[in-house]
Amino acid sequence: MQNKNIILGITGGIAAYKSAELTRLLRHADCNVRVIMTQNAQEFITPLTLQTLSGNQVYTKMFAQDLELNIKHIALARSADLVVIAPASANFIAKLAYGLADDLLSTVCLATTAPIAIAPAMNKIMWQNTITQKNIASLQDRGINIWGPAAGDLACNEIGLGRMLEATEIFSLIKNFFTSKILQGVNILITAGPTQEALDPVRFLTNKSSGKMGYAIARAAEQAGANVTLISGPTSLLNPPNVKRIGVISAEEMYSQVIKQIKNTAIFISTAAVADYRPAKTAKQKIKKTGEELTLELQKTPDILAAVARLPKKPFTIGFAAETENVKKNAIKKLQTKNLDMIVANKVGKNLGFESDNNELLILSKNAPEIKLSYAAKTQLAKEFITIVANKIKHKG
Ligand code: C5P
Repeated sequence: MQNKNIILGITGGIAAYKSAELTRLLRHADCNVRVIMTQNAQEFITPLTLQTLSGNQVYTKMFAQDLELNIKHIALARSADLVVIAPASANFIAKLAYGLADDLLSTVCLATTAPIAIAPAMNKIMWQNTITQKNIASLQDRGINIWGPAAGDLACNEIGLGRMLEATEIFSLIKNFFTSKILQGVNILITAGPTQEALDPVRFLTNKSSGKMGYAIARAAEQAGANVTLISGPTSLLNPPNVKRIGVISAEEMYSQVIKQIKNTAIFISTAAVADYRPAKTAKQKIKKTGEELTLELQKTPDILAAVARLPKKPFTIGFAAETENVKKNAIKKLQTKNLDMIVANKVGKNLGFESDNNELLILSKNAPEIKLSYAAKTQLAKEFITIVANKIKHKG
């Protein structure tokens, strides 16, 4: 953490007092801390306190009389390695979500290219409010790190989710942030979502895959430092931040994009629910209703995963097996027949798999004991899965 330039933004909230301790901890770790306080923050703690603790001038105004100071504001935004807003009030979160720049701190946040982390602190009803949650989701989608809040006693004599994390907890998160990540610089290619196989200009064959698992894995891998390319069938999901997303429609298109992108890939993760068959012919015009029965002729699509596993310079290749029965048995068979390094089996059913936000996974590898990840949010499972994959790669050398 030595010599890291950290901008600590303090907004109006009683938790501002914890930021004094955070400043002390950061300075102790030889970080260069520049504090920016909003006007409301100064109702709770004085700039002098922060100036003394940081050993640096504290910035409070957008337009200083001093020209040199004005130039410094921009320099401040440019030189930061990390911007931490602690506490982040509901009001400031809303400003950040909508890109307002009506004071120094919001302007610096808009002008900086440095990563931003916020530690929310507010009353539990404000935190649960749909608009706050929507703002948080939008910040998350833009790659802003959300640290906390924690549950516990709130300043308003209520108990619930809304307390700012303790200074020591935020300090650890900052430390983790600067520590080299487990998949730093590793190239990962991920397929996700369903494919659509056209019957005619208005109809297609597809499946229930939402793409949620693959997108969660792409996000977790990116956060672990990987360079992620995501080849996705049609989904309604937002592009995970800092992930190169290539949209495709059919299995054939997904196949050619994978082959195009596979060079220099260290890990290939095939979460897509690729159609196994496509219509033998795609009608140029809409197929007309005729007799009582209509027979469709289908032909096999290329097996993308098996093709990657056959490459002479094969990446660490991971398949997914969505099953409705005999989950483990079928998965083991796929691991062997497709020559995979790892397969992740999951049962598709009520509250599990395809459209659900939750899942449970069974990870099977060649020559290694199985690992079960029990029922949890796909976002959580994705983080655990990525840690397991990173460890495998490390031990493989
Ligand atoms: O054999 P099955 O389709 O059940 O295997 C599932 C695995 O194979 C998944 O990882 C899926 O992404 C991949 N797959 C593929 N290309 C296909 C069919 C499946 O990459 N045409």
